[in-house]
Amino acid sequence: MAIERTLSIIKPDAVAKNVIGQIYSRFEGAGLKVIAARMMHLSRNDAEAFYGVHRERPFFKDLVEFMISGPVMVQALEGEGAILKNRDLMGATDPKKAAAGTIRADFADSIDANAVHGSDAPETAAVEIAFFFPGMSIHSR
Ligand code: PPS
Repeated sequence: MAIERTLSIIKPDAVAKNVIGQIYSRFEGAGLKVIAARMMHLSRNDAEAFYGVHRERPFFKDLVEFMISGPVMVQALEGEGAILKNRDLMGATDPKKAAAGTIRADFADSIDANAVHGSDAPETAAVEIAFFFPGMSIHSR
């Protein structure tokens, strides 16, 4: 399987629960390497731009409010099949439907506050990594 990169966000609810380390352990345990990381508090402009594709969805306003409600931890992950591997680790968008042992089943409270984001395809991963790590040369091992 090809080595891929994906963009991951640990959302404000999970940062507030102090589980960044536990989530990083899951990435590392699955063979995903953290190759870039930054902790930040998203501006409204950042959140609206990042989730722009969902602008017309009924949950857009609430999603933006939630994403700017506290700091987030943003990372680029690298590894074999990283995009799908990260999505498998995350579990379904709605934590009530997420498989046991996934990040969302274990740490998320609701479909609105669902702990993590992960890119869903190679094209979106490239755009999302460039959004948060613009112009940076990322060094992987
Ligand atoms: S879709 O239909 O596949 O585009 O939806 P999905 O990628 O699963 O979710 C889009 C993002 O919006 C967040 N979100 C919600 N989705 C659905 N319903 C509600 N009520 C809702 N509230 C927030 C969802 O977590 C996705 O965010 P990310 O950060 O991409 O996981």
